[in-house]
Amino acid sequence: MRVVIAGDANTVATTSAQIVSRQLIGQPTSVLGLATGSTPVILYRELVRRYEAGEVCFSRAKSFNLDEYVGINPEHHQSYRHFMQQHLFDHINMDPVATQVPQGLADPQIECTRYEAAIKSAGGIDLQVLGLGANGHIGFNEPTSSLASRTRIKTLTEDTMAANAHFFGAQEQQPSLALTMGIGTIMEARHILLLATGKHKAQAVKAMVEGPVSAMAPASVLQFHTTVTVVLDAEAASLLDAQQYYHWVEKMRAEITREKLESS
Ligand code: GLP
Repeated sequence: MRVVIAGDANTVATTSAQIVSRQLIGQPTSVLGLATGSTPVILYRELVRRYEAGEVCFSRAKSFNLDEYVGINPEHHQSYRHFMQQHLFDHINMDPVATQVPQGLADPQIECTRYEAAIKSAGGIDLQVLGLGANGHIGFNEPTSSLASRTRIKTLTEDTMAANAHFFGAQEQQPSLALTMGIGTIMEARHILLLATGKHKAQAVKAMVEGPVSAMAPASVLQFHTTVTVVLDAEAASLLDAQQYYHWVEKMRAEITREKLESS
């Protein structure tokens, strides 16, 4: 697991956007896995900026979002489809047909099977972007989720509902069920890029990076993936024991890159 402690949120955005851009430049037909939540908003903003500057192109890419609320209309202002349109898809040149978000109004069983098959027929996910729940969830795979789970319907925890309650109006029914890619589905992505910012994520980051692998901390399963990049701000990294080592590794990487550039 590569742990990049980027300092502030802006550096988290530029570091992670660099990884997504490189993926698209190296492989314009990339299949991206995308996430919602407040954390990736800064990444999407930076990607839109790069697209507008002509630095990155999405025209041949495809995407699959991690999750969606059950029973929610895609036009609803709190649907994850709406979120993605608002923060990314409406501002870039990705083919609308190539952007997939689980359909919250479909029959859940049929939709989950369809979604898994669609990911497979696209050739699998090249780069999966993840946020991190304060309780350690990825997608909507709450603690105790099977570490081998596939796309399915999940009941949200009270914690997760409370964390997301402020997005919904007082008169609005907040969904308690979601369709989410499973942990097994996420683990099949070729590269995983997880972003976490803020003090409230520090405990979950610690459990993910340095804790024992456990279904009680679903993100800890990423320790079994060979190609994970975790990009953190200083607050989210604040409880990590090996912070100095992570900084040291990044310094070495930068030096190796500089030497390579100088000798070429
Ligand atoms: C939701 C999403 C997750 C996201 C998490 C954290 O529960 N399903 O994909 O990572 O929230 O959200 P935030 O980035 O707003 O803290």
